[in-house]
Amino acid sequence: MSASLSRPRVGVWLIGARGSVATTVVTGCAAVAAGLHPPTGMVTETPAFTESGLPALSDLVFGGHDTVDCPLPKRAETLTAGGVLPPGIATAVASELAAAEREIRPGGPTPGDTRSEAELITAFADDIRDFVHRHELERAVVVNVASTEPASQGPDAPLPASTLYALAALRAGCPYVNFTPSEGMHHPAAAREAERSGLPYAGRDGKTGQTLLRSVLGPMFAQRALAVRAWSGTNLLGGGDGAALADPAAAAAKNAGKERVLTDTLGTTPQGETHIDDVPALGDWKTAWDHIAFDGFLGTRMILQTTWQGCDSALAAPLVLDLARLTARAHESGLSGPLDALAFYFKDPVGDAPSGLAEQYVALTGFARSLREAGPGEGTGLRQGAGEGRELGREERTNGMGDLR
Ligand SMILES: NC(=O)c1ccc[n+]([C@@H]2O[C@H](COP(=O)([O-])OP(=O)(O)OC[C@H]3O[C@@H](n4cnc5c(N)ncnc54)[C@H](O)[C@@H]3O)[C@@H](O)[C@H]2O)c1
Repeated sequence: MSASLSRPRVGVWLIGARGSVATTVVTGCAAVAAGLHPPTGMVTETPAFTESGLPALSDLVFGGHDTVDCPLPKRAETLTAGGVLPPGIATAVASELAAAEREIRPGGPTPGDTRSEAELITAFADDIRDFVHRHELERAVVVNVASTEPASQGPDAPLPASTLYALAALRAGCPYVNFTPSEGMHHPAAAREAERSGLPYAGRDGKTGQTLLRSVLGPMFAQRALAVRAWSGTNLLGGGDGAALADPAAAAAKNAGKERVLTDTLGTTPQGETHIDDVPALGDWKTAWDHIAFDGFLGTRMILQTTWQGCDSALAAPLVLDLARLTARAHESGLSGPLDALAFYFKDPVGDAPSGLAEQYVALTGFARSLREAGPGEGTGLRQGAGEGRELGREERTNGMGDLR
């Protein structure tokens, strides 16, 4: 057996596996692993993460759930036609796309699905376990990149699909990442189970554009003692995400995270709203405007405006790969509960994390350092914190979330 075949491999189980973000993740991972493209946008490929023990891109194996049938290679063709993927890349990694396509299982609940919540959780968990078993994976990370769901309907409503999948991940013994604003592990039913499981989890809602800028500019206004009077934003977006966010309840879930970062970094909630408009003609290309009205010395009124024009899936995919690698390594190191150190990646981070990007980056690179110092292997017993690894006793390690806050 060659050295590469004997290396432990790590599964990445994508919920929403045939979506734009998922297709870009699978295509991009294969292209970068093959040396066809540099790892632009992947923070885990920068020197701060050297020797942190992260799984190699070539050791990631993809599978997942989706509720649509369009095969991954076809989806990659569509993304190529839309300019999201560079020409020729989907053909160059056709065998990797086909391999991931073979590992996609039907998701749910689909309209008319008669299965109970318990049956759905069991079916999803069985699919994940089967994937891990057949590929002899060391572990698998479940990552939610499915369509955004409407905001919470309250504790008595049926469990949202994202929470069914989060519970399935726990049942299958897998760490979990929520890249969407959907409830997932935030639902009280899942939060309780997460605490018992001793598994690490991260989320929620990837920070790829407007909120990324806000997490830099908010601290700037606060540190320069400039009084922000109003912060208004508008987003124009097409694609599947644009269509999902045309539902005001789904957009509300997304906008809550975008506004939270302002309140947290400014220490006050400025006037102004954030809107998301579905413009199908734009596909995956998003334009985000922010208009910030602020007061300077002696009350002089001033305005900052920003325009962000980005390709959503190209911004999201490298972060999903970073998160899968970091969460897998956190699991290997024996960490459990909310991974605060990954707040850098999220609009609405779990746990007790700062909201400014600079502080979040310090926490992330400290985490990378502590992973490096912990050395290779299982259950190194790290504790989260500003880069300081601390040995935990076995009881402490398996004691769930409380240990890590
Ligand atoms: N692209 C970004 O910059 C970015 C940033 C932050 C968050 N996100 C979030 O990532 C998610 C994915 O975005 P996208 O552009 O790939 O959207 P998309 O519409 O292209 O893909 C979503 C996929 O989820 C699938 N899906 C829907 N319900 C499901 C279910 N119950 N089970 C399994 N699969 C299901 C859909 O069939 C679709 O294939 C969205 O929630 C979006 O808000 C994206």
